[in-house]
Amino acid sequence: MIRQAARDFAQRELIQDVIERDYKGIYPAKHIETMRQLGFFGMMVSPEYGGGGMDAISYVMALEEISKIDSSVAVIMSVHNSLVCLGIEKYGSKLQKDKYLHDLTSGKKIGVFLLSEPEAGSDATRQKTLAEDKGDHYLINGTKNWITSANSGSVYMLFAQTYPEKRHKGINALIVDKDSPGISLGPKEDKMGLRSSDTHSVMFTDVKVPKENRIGEDGFGFKLAMALLESGRIGIAAQATGLAAGAYERSLQYAKERKAFGTEIINHQAIAFKLAEMAVKIENARNLVHKAAWLKDQGKDYLLAGSMAKLYAADMAMEVTTDAVQIHGGYGYVREYHVERLMREAKVTQIYEGTSEIQKIVISRALSKGL
Ligand code: CAA
Repeated sequence: MIRQAARDFAQRELIQDVIERDYKGIYPAKHIETMRQLGFFGMMVSPEYGGGGMDAISYVMALEEISKIDSSVAVIMSVHNSLVCLGIEKYGSKLQKDKYLHDLTSGKKIGVFLLSEPEAGSDATRQKTLAEDKGDHYLINGTKNWITSANSGSVYMLFAQTYPEKRHKGINALIVDKDSPGISLGPKEDKMGLRSSDTHSVMFTDVKVPKENRIGEDGFGFKLAMALLESGRIGIAAQATGLAAGAYERSLQYAKERKAFGTEIINHQAIAFKLAEMAVKIENARNLVHKAAWLKDQGKDYLLAGSMAKLYAADMAMEVTTDAVQIHGGYGYVREYHVERLMREAKVTQIYEGTSEIQKIVISRALSKGL
């Protein structure tokens, strides 16, 4: 039922203006409203806080269906659910849960995850943004980069350094209201893909954040970021699987209709074999995503499975969407047929929430530990 609801929403509603929104970089405000009504903003949060109380398998199915059509919407949903909602529900204080979760699960407010900096992307321990301890509050100064939903979202989960000499052990995670005095945004990034989601740099100048907004113990921030990215990576893997599946479904349909050399092109082995390979790769990625989600649902360790799913699905999505453009020929190179957009969308899944290279670090370290 959840998969069907997400599929209906994507195939009936998102599809209508996805090309225009991508071209003009328009935020999907009216679709966010529908998603609120469908309950897509607190899917895995407990009903106690207005969430859907669903499992991770249901969540990745919904994300896959939405990503078949529109990854801009999928990334807003993924950062909100996998990172911010999970972070506050699992690690936040009672006060923080009561104050923030209802607005997040209802979708009234969108969650934002602020980890990356101009000089701290893959090397996330090198946070330069400062959160100076001023007794009853922290004073924040610094800049965050590539922040999804920075303008449209309003519940910021900020990572900043309190004790630089302690390196990653000095980082804290704070919940910050976007409207706090001293926060300003850079211009909307003019991205290659996911152009309908809003990505900005965010500047903090003497921003006061009450101490009660710190998540977990003093210095817990980096561990929190890593723990949340474990979960986030399953979502991004589902997104990559979805957009590849979207490109594949379009290619299959096109190959059955388009004729060349006197027959539908699916009858040419060059095309048929490409489609066969695409289908196998997508199925492999989906299985990895579902395995990671299942392990999460069982309360088992999913670090290795999540990173494997992210690495495989992202690289696979780049290959499959490139093949989809090739199958479409000249039509694949123009907007109307969607596959060029899906190819542009695929690229970022190899970059954000840990590049493919970072996934190999995580995987190889986990393997050497015998996980
Ligand atoms: N859970 C809990 N703790 C963890 C952890 C995990 N999964 N992984 C690491 N840690 C802990 C380690 O135990 C260690 O703690 P101790 O020193 O107390 O033992 C500490 O974190 C540091 O770990 P490492 O020594 O492994 O640190 P490292 O610098 O060698 O490597 C890294 C860490 C894996 C490379 C990490 O920096 C990383 O994941 N980088 C990528 C960052 C990233 O994914 N950014 C995405 C931005 S968010 C985004 O993209 C959202 C969006 O908009 C879509």
